[in-house]
Amino acid sequence: MALKITVIGTGYLGATHAAAMAELGFEVLGLDVVPEKIEMLRRGEVPMYEPGLEELLRRHVAGFEGSTGRLRFTTSYEEAGAFGEVHFVCVNTPQKHGEYACDMSYVESAFSSLAPHLDRPALVVGKSTVPVGSAARLARLLAAQAPAGEAAELAWNPEFLREGFAVDDTLHPDRIVVGVASERAEALLREIYATPVGEGSPFVVMDYPTAELVKTAANSFLATKISFINAMAEVCEAADGDVVKLAEAIGHDERIGKKFLRAGVGFGGGCLPKDIRAFMARAGELGADQALTFLREVDSINMRRRGHMVELTRDAVGGTFLGKRVAVLGATFKPDSDDVRDSPALNVAGQIHLQGGQVTVYDPKGMANARRLFPTLGYADSALEAVRGADAVLHLTEWREFRELDPAVLGEAVTARRILDGRNALDPELWRKAGWTYRALGRPKA
Ligand SMILES: NC(=O)c1ccc[n+]([C@@H]2O[C@H](COP(=O)([O-])OP(=O)(O)OC[C@H]3O[C@@H](n4cnc5c(N)ncnc54)[C@H](O)[C@@H]3O)[C@@H](O)[C@H]2O)c1
Repeated sequence: MALKITVIGTGYLGATHAAAMAELGFEVLGLDVVPEKIEMLRRGEVPMYEPGLEELLRRHVAGFEGSTGRLRFTTSYEEAGAFGEVHFVCVNTPQKHGEYACDMSYVESAFSSLAPHLDRPALVVGKSTVPVGSAARLARLLAAQAPAGEAAELAWNPEFLREGFAVDDTLHPDRIVVGVASERAEALLREIYATPVGEGSPFVVMDYPTAELVKTAANSFLATKISFINAMAEVCEAADGDVVKLAEAIGHDERIGKKFLRAGVGFGGGCLPKDIRAFMARAGELGADQALTFLREVDSINMRRRGHMVELTRDAVGGTFLGKRVAVLGATFKPDSDDVRDSPALNVAGQIHLQGGQVTVYDPKGMANARRLFPTLGYADSALEAVRGADAVLHLTEWREFRELDPAVLGEAVTARRILDGRNALDPELWRKAGWTYRALGRPKA
């Protein structure tokens, strides 16, 4: 009999994980507290944009012609408790309002809703990114609240998927990290991940706190790398250097590496910004705040980039946004996603709008989410429509569609041929040849 798995919280992480578990051959029940999401998933529709996820979902969701029928969805914790032998918790852990700390209320709620329904041995596996120390506390809570007592066990299995590559990252993870308190938990997780481990994914076993820390440490490192190159961009601008050449040159040193060295408007999204802040807050509670003071600088370099992008644009249009039209290409925090959480692109668009500019945004997949978050901005249905009459065009999310734009065609639509590349991803020569003034963060003017 195939192992029965529930996935609690079917957002970016959970929906992907649920479909991937079905792909690996398990019987899966996905649960969410938002009935509309569950309805969509039941119809084989993904509530967000993630390449390849809809196909994967439809291969397994019950009721679809030709599907394996291994994947179903519910809003009932009672059903989840009765169904599952292993329960993955994938709910959101956002930043608390007005504080750096992580808001654990969704995780707490998921655990308290599930525990009373665990009346036989079960393994609950946390995947959400949580402050170190949470797992030990939740393990005690689980044993106290579950009718099965100590037989309702906890493991922590942080997730490293990247939006835009979520399906592949989940099916072929570059590592599987498990924090466990028993051999039984480890054995169950080895069974679940047998396929990727068989294909070569490293399986790294550790205790709860280390597993929790691996995730926040990894995100802190990535954030630091991005802010490092953005700090170099600031110095390059001051010294008339070129950060793109600099990154290429230092990237040849394999200890440094080429990845994550693209200077620009910095990182955003539902993970890096809130994760480094929650990490600082938690280190403070533990009396280790000094160890992470550098993350404050990482955060502030990152946020400064957004302001700098606004300033560069204001300069480019003559010192004030009043009466100026600005086209913003990109709304999501990265390409191949519809996620606009803490998106630098929308943040910049919003700031320009507040300073009196008329902003028109276009994004290939993020329009609906962007409209919900920033209803007062202007929106267009294509890049060409967005740039119509613009005094400046801002490239803020590096979608492939934007790299393939024809500068000559766009040039016919704008009022002035000014492009500011906030991602250092366009070809300056191409744009300049078509008569555009091309500016980018950390690069010389001409
Ligand atoms: N998105 C990513 O790329 C990514 C990558 C790695 C780790 N993570 C971590 O995974 C977690 C989830 O992130 P996400 O991006 O999928 O968030 P999300 O907001 O897209 O999804 C969370 C889902 O949980 C549901 N939910 C909330 N409370 C619930 C409850 N009590 N019971 C059942 N469902 C509930 C929400 O309705 C939502 O559908 C976070 O801790 C995040 O840091 C995310």
